Amino acid sequence: MIMKNIVLTGFMGAGKTAVGKELARLLDVPLIDIDSDIEKSERMTINDIFKQRGETKFRDIETAMIKKISQRENIVISTGGGAVMKDENMEALRRNGIVICLMASPEAILHRVSHNSERPLLQGENPLRKIEDLLHVRQPFYDKADIIIDTENRTPLQIAEEIIERIRNLKR
Ligand code: S3P
Repeated sequence: MIMKNIVLTGFMGAGKTAVGKELARLLDVPLIDIDSDIEKSERMTINDIFKQRGETKFRDIETAMIKKISQRENIVISTGGGAVMKDENMEALRRNGIVICLMASPEAILHRVSHNSERPLLQGENPLRKIEDLLHVRQPFYDKADIIIDTENRTPLQIAEEIIERIRNLKR
């Protein structure tokens, strides 16, 4: 069966990768993680791309990767938290996909990302403040998703099951 791609968006730490894995397993389709594919093709970590080439260059690489991956069918796509900010990214992803946004509170996000230092945008003095500021700017873009899901106090499996159910309801 050919299905539309399922595109996961949402802030860093919202659970896109964990939920993406469950979705891909339940639907038996590949999970493509845009950030991982960027790291493979550039042979650099996202952190190093930010440090050595800057955010603008990263965003260009991200858009090119999104356009390439969007041409595929029958996949789950996990995007980086900032991908929603560019209309051309979302247009490409929507052409063949349903856009899901995973939401969590700033406190929950901080808790989930605090154990690793792989997020260049959250390094520095006051990460909670940074999360709140970025969320404030990005919220209108996250809100454009076809389906918005609250992830707090739920497992990735429960969230993946809800996504499948809600996509079925969309089609009715
Ligand atoms: C970013 C989120 C990261 C990664 C990069 C920028 C953002 O992805 O793309 O560090 O702007 O929110 P995750 O959302 O998977 O952490």
